[in-house]
Amino acid sequence: MQRIESFFDAFFGAAANPWRHLGALGFYLLWITFATGVYLFIVLDTGIEEIHTSIEYYTHEQWWLGGIIRSLHRYAADALVLVMLLHLARELLYGRYNGFRWYSWITGVPVIWLVYASGIGGYWLVWDQLGLFSAVASAEWFDWIPTFSGVTTRNFLPGMLTDRFFSLLVFLHIGIPLILLLALWVHIQRISHSDVFPARSLALGTFAMLFVLALVKPTVSHGKADLSMLSPVLHLDWHYLFVHPLMYLTSPAGLWAMAGLFSLLLLLLPLLPHPKQQPIASVNPPNCNGCRRCFVDCPYGAVVMLPHPDKPGHELARVIPELCASCGICAGACPSSTPFRSVDTLVTGIDMPAQPVGALREEMERKIAALAGPVKIAVFGCTCAAETARLESADTAVLNLMCAGLLPPSFAEYALRGGADGVLVTGCREGSCAYRLGTRWTEERLASQREPHLRATVPAEHLRIVWADSHEMSRLKAALEDFRHSLQTLNADEKRPRAYTPRRIAQHG
Ligand code: HEM
Ligand code: SF4
Ligand code: SF4
Repeated sequence: MQRIESFFDAFFGAAANPWRHLGALGFYLLWITFATGVYLFIVLDTGIEEIHTSIEYYTHEQWWLGGIIRSLHRYAADALVLVMLLHLARELLYGRYNGFRWYSWITGVPVIWLVYASGIGGYWLVWDQLGLFSAVASAEWFDWIPTFSGVTTRNFLPGMLTDRFFSLLVFLHIGIPLILLLALWVHIQRISHSDVFPARSLALGTFAMLFVLALVKPTVSHGKADLSMLSPVLHLDWHYLFVHPLMYLTSPAGLWAMAGLFSLLLLLLPLLPHPKQQPIASVNPPNCNGCRRCFVDCPYGAVVMLPHPDKPGHELARVIPELCASCGICAGACPSSTPFRSVDTLVTGIDMPAQPVGALREEMERKIAALAGPVKIAVFGCTCAAETARLESADTAVLNLMCAGLLPPSFAEYALRGGADGVLVTGCREGSCAYRLGTRWTEERLASQREPHLRATVPAEHLRIVWADSHEMSRLKAALEDFRHSLQTLNADEKRPRAYTPRRIAQHG
């Protein structure tokens, strides 16, 4: 999956790579169906005799507006199915269905049903032979449920349908998509800074693609529905209507069994055995000044700010255990995580028990002190990305973080002042980060666009950022070699920042 995604990065860039923004694309396509649907609703005549004629009118006579809008509506709805299934497959392949993610996964399952119910209902509204077939097939499917026992199918006997039935269809085709929107809102409730708007270029490109499709292959209807006969040839839209042939190949009970089993399997997936999650973040009140950075940066909304119990007018961070992903991005955001603090034991405001910031400072000091060679490099890597441990050598110290977002930017300056000639920061590519925002926040912090920022006094030539996924080890190695070479060629004036002797080292010798 990562190979496919990085291949597409070459053409689109990570920010506009559709593979990396499938959720956002899904929302966008839904908005297109809503916007085009409003126009269609206005021009549609919902009488049983008039509906087909009114659709035919704006498909053919008004093809330049109504026809294009109808096609956009159809193709956006089709694309929504594709994008949703790819999004599901992506989360599945990355194993993102258990642990703290169970909520997003479980709430995604009803979304599948709602997308299909919204789309299939749209076919009935056209009230052509295909719509009639789909409506009758769906009715036969529902009639298998004992409480219905044939009631739904009887509606389609000649002479039984009235205009009120169509008003009901319109109501359902508007109501179910609104419930879908509500379900999606629930779906992303535990995700902060959620990616719901695609980049402008991706949005425009997607719209252009749908528009060209609408011009080249406009959506057309079958002949008007006739309850006394069935059309011998139907052109199915396989995105939605595959369920009907599936039912006739098996049985209504068989289709219920398949749909139920598929949903049940998805719902049970989070219960499969999975790696134990690391201990969650913990707040150390004496080192928390209530700055809110952890609250803002947490990718899963696991930090809340509460009134400080002892300092009126101040706030104190608190972690909600069931929401915490144990990523460490909050520790990287905390101003108390700076290694320049002259305390023997560095305790920060919000820390990760599995990789405390204090232990990281000690490891960094020890490893940098042991480096030998003309050019010494400190590498900060991420356990989810390319395996940085393999870069360790006599002149290269490697510090592997649970997420690149755990790196407080001041650590880069501290490493340079403490003896390293260069600092290389690596981790997953944007969009690959297991915790969504680790890469983005780290990049912004190092570029001084986000707090806590790296001080401008740190010379840019001594810092390199290389995002490399787990399959990109050779690219990372090549980047390290290139960095080493460029550090060697720096002249004396561009030498590393003034050395810094931590006070506690001076005190303790
Ligand atoms: C039209 C349908 C869907 C849309 C528009 C949609 C949209 C989204 C969005 C916008 C996010 C947040 C992405 C981010 O900010 O990183 C998300 C996350 C997620 N979605 Fe969906 N989703 C849909 C269907 C599904 C389905 C069917 C499933 C699986 C059953 C699913 C599983 C997940 C999971 C597990 C996450 C969390 C990812 C993470 O924590 O890194 N989604 N979805
Ligand atoms: S470890 Fe990650 S998920 Fe947990 S509070 Fe910190 S930033 Fe939020
Ligand atoms: S970032 Fe640190 S100091 Fe700021 S609110 Fe969070 S724990 Fe407190």
